[in-house]
Amino acid sequence: MKIPLKAKLVVSFLAVILICGIVSTLVGMRLIGTGIINQAQEKVSHDLNSGREVYREETENIKHMMRFTASRFFIKEAISNNDIITLGKELDAIRKTESLDVLTLTDESGKVLLRSRNPSISGDYQTQDELVSHVLSTGEVIAGTVIVPREELLKEGDELARQAYTRVLPTAKARPSPETEQTSAMCIKAAAPVLRQDGSLAGILYGGNLLNRNYAIVDKVKAIAYRGVKYKGEDIGTSTIFQADVRITTNVKGEDGNRAIGTRLSEDVYEQVLEKGLSWIHRAFVVNNWYIAAYEPIRNTRGEIVGVLSVGVLEDKYTDMRRRTVAIFLGITLAGMIAALIVSSFLAKSVLLPIKHLVSASGRWAKGDLDYQVKITRKDEIAELGETFNLMASSLKERNDELKEYTNQQIMKSDRLATLGQLAAGVAHEINNPLGTISIYAQMVLDELGKDNDSCKESLAVVMKQTDRAGRIVKDLLEFARQSEPEMRMLNINDVLEKAISITNHPAELQNIKVTTNLAPRLPEIQADSDKLQQVFVNMMINALQAMQKGGELNLATRIDESGKFIEIEISDTGCGISQEHLGKLFDPFFSTKSTGEGTGLGLSVSLGIVQRHNGTIDVRSKVGEGSTFIVRFPIGEV
Ligand SMILES: Nc1ncnc2c1ncn2[C@@H]1O[C@H](COP(=O)(O)OP(=O)(O)OP(=O)(O)O)[C@@H](O)[C@H]1O
Ligand SMILES: [Mg+2]
Repeated sequence: MKIPLKAKLVVSFLAVILICGIVSTLVGMRLIGTGIINQAQEKVSHDLNSGREVYREETENIKHMMRFTASRFFIKEAISNNDIITLGKELDAIRKTESLDVLTLTDESGKVLLRSRNPSISGDYQTQDELVSHVLSTGEVIAGTVIVPREELLKEGDELARQAYTRVLPTAKARPSPETEQTSAMCIKAAAPVLRQDGSLAGILYGGNLLNRNYAIVDKVKAIAYRGVKYKGEDIGTSTIFQADVRITTNVKGEDGNRAIGTRLSEDVYEQVLEKGLSWIHRAFVVNNWYIAAYEPIRNTRGEIVGVLSVGVLEDKYTDMRRRTVAIFLGITLAGMIAALIVSSFLAKSVLLPIKHLVSASGRWAKGDLDYQVKITRKDEIAELGETFNLMASSLKERNDELKEYTNQQIMKSDRLATLGQLAAGVAHEINNPLGTISIYAQMVLDELGKDNDSCKESLAVVMKQTDRAGRIVKDLLEFARQSEPEMRMLNINDVLEKAISITNHPAELQNIKVTTNLAPRLPEIQADSDKLQQVFVNMMINALQAMQKGGELNLATRIDESGKFIEIEISDTGCGISQEHLGKLFDPFFSTKSTGEGTGLGLSVSLGIVQRHNGTIDVRSKVGEGSTFIVRFPIGEV
């Protein structure tokens, strides 16, 4: 199936863009996602710091309050005077102004002297209380988070026990627990020694606030961290305190619109924070929204984990932010892809148009319209290609014209030669018979003439000689016209050459020509017609002798050529040489520079015919005035 180049280019561009787009979108989405989540987590962990600070400040406040109140003179005096009434009044006033839930005084042994909230119950010992026992043993002020059991709460009055009482609500994902209610309370409490003038312990003042349903801390945390910001009508941030895993104060609203007191921590947070004591940032589903929440344990003064402080931000804000950013990112990628598509198709078009021109030009050239030229309108690599194509077409046309011319000449020449060959063969055949008759009758007349008819004899001898010569020409003509087939047998070229030398030796001597030979020993034998090769060599030697009218040197050599595939026969003379103009015509039949009667111009054309029928070649090198060299080559073992 043929897919157009333009489609391929555009599809390739698209594929690359698509892959890049998908990869960058995926990577981008992931980076954006994690970036936004990280940002949310950072924010929430920052908020947790605020929460911790508020909680610590609250504890410190109560601690200072206890230290300050315990150092006031009226307390020491009232203890030493056992003036419970004054104490009761003063402490209750302080408790109310400082909004404390509990403010109680014990004597130096830890026995309760006065509960400012509930003066009716006193005389019990508070030595089991971790703060009181700490002051008893060290004499120092102490503050912290403590769990106060219900019976202790009841001593301070029913209200506190009621405030602390929490119905534990079933919560999805929470750790399974059989407990359905919580009766104890989690308090921030401080205890301070009351010292006499001499520095000895007169009593212990302790007081504090319940955290259960006490929204001051969580609301303060929320106010500081989130400044009342809302998202889609919901508070963006919340803060919660858990007693163990039960929510005792929070600003998360339940489905009824009230604060979601009594719900529990999810089990995985329970494990991380309450069991392992780690801070933890986690996605949490609280009541009806997902939050990104941070949790950290709250410890009592002994370092035991008694609760959890947590803050959370609505996850919606961040998921929306992520969704928006991803949408923008996708939009940009998509717009980029569309832009790239347009650019790529435009590019493909602008690249392909000149190529199309080239293709159509090639088609016209292929059909023979070599005059056609591609239009060059730009300056780039394709334009260069077009120029090269144009150049190629022009030179192709030139070569084509030359070839046509040459072929025409060749056709004319071979036509001429063929006609000439037929003519020669016909003429030779016709002349052969009368020549034979002339020769026989001349011989008969010669035989019958007496001894005294010398002049007639001489004339007849001339007739016979010229008849012989005419016979030889006829033979050459027949040879040229390829009338006689060679008789092939294995032979040694050196032997043939030597026979040819013996034939030409005598005339050479007469002409004072020195004949030298340089024949290679052990030449491989080849398949050839001995008589015909002899004819070739004799022709060439006679030509050489005729070229050396004033004497000279004829050298005959045989050898195997460098490739080892041919036998070379070299016939060189020091004769008149051949002009450049004549070199091209040497092998044309009837080309001769010799006077009529001396040369018919068939010698070399006949020789070439014979050599070619032996699959051989003839080369000529010649320099006018210096001599000529003819090299005949026959393939070894292929004839
Ligand atoms: N060795 C040579 N030196 C100089 N000229 C040569 C030599 N061999 C051939 N020629 C030239 O080539 C021509 C053609 O040679 P070719 O043998 O075909 O014909 P010819 O010798 O003229 O006549 P023929 O051989 O038919 O009697 C010669 O007339 C001569 O001019
Ligand atoms: Mg000749």
